[in-house]
Amino acid sequence: MGRYVVTGASSGIGLEIALQLAAQGNGVIALGRDRERLRNLALRDRRIEVRVLDIRDRAAVAALAAELAGADVIDGLINNAAIQHNVRLDDRLYGADEIADEIETNLVAPLILSRLLLPRTPARPFVIVNVGSALACYPKATSAVYSATKAGLRMFSDALRVQFDGTPVRVVDVVLPVVDTPMTAGRGRGKITAGAAAAAIVRALEPGPARLHVGKAKLLRLLQLVAPPVAAAIIRKL
Ligand SMILES: NC(=O)c1ccc[n+]([C@@H]2O[C@H](COP(=O)([O-])OP(=O)(O)OC[C@H]3O[C@@H](n4cnc5c(N)ncnc54)[C@H](OP(=O)(O)O)[C@@H]3O)[C@@H](O)[C@H]2O)c1
Repeated sequence: MGRYVVTGASSGIGLEIALQLAAQGNGVIALGRDRERLRNLALRDRRIEVRVLDIRDRAAVAALAAELAGADVIDGLINNAAIQHNVRLDDRLYGADEIADEIETNLVAPLILSRLLLPRTPARPFVIVNVGSALACYPKATSAVYSATKAGLRMFSDALRVQFDGTPVRVVDVVLPVVDTPMTAGRGRGKITAGAAAAAIVRALEPGPARLHVGKAKLLRLLQLVAPPVAAAIIRKL
């Protein structure tokens, strides 16, 4: 059993991750901005400790990390929170603030959280799971910035693996297919449930492959090898 920090636990996949980890007897520190939804999550399982925290707020993130460093040991971090704007870059309502928000939430915050929650000395086992997407490899036509953030997160996972090679620090990135959550409401077909996506992410905490493809993302990996243009054509229309 371990104790894990889960970002984006107030909705969709993150909420399911928190519930599944707690049901297995793990300690969970569940982060999100929506106080009411987090309160409901805590009521569903009292082993889940919820914290209202905007992961873009660097002072709040630093304070949480300092508090956790002085208390019980944390065994891992699941970087799950993200936002996705489904618009072209030149959309009238998509400006500098929206671009910066998407990058701060999906890329800058997970990198800072990873930095601050890593054990002071890498001699202690620690696992970072970065929740990724097929859009890290092939772009979706209406989500240029989101695709770029997921590609950045994927490279970050690869880079950390190189840095911490030979230490007990593990970094896993999970490549998800389309999942039925508020993020994909009203679009996408053949979606898997948030529970199924969460189960794969929870499994990624155990020793195993460094990159985990889930559901139809496994097919994408195959297409990448045998027919890259077909893979690209599928993803751009998602
Ligand atoms: N759904 C899919 O098809 C799909 C496919 C591939 C990958 N993914 C990835 O899966 C992960 C979970 O997505 P989801 O589908 O479960 O989305 P979701 O239901 O929209 O949930 C997103 C979560 O992120 C949190 N969040 C957003 N901005 C935040 C901020 N500034 N500070 C703190 N928390 C913040 C939200 O919490 P608050 O609203 O409380 O802030 C919410 O809990 C994401 O990394 C996403 O990119 C999803």
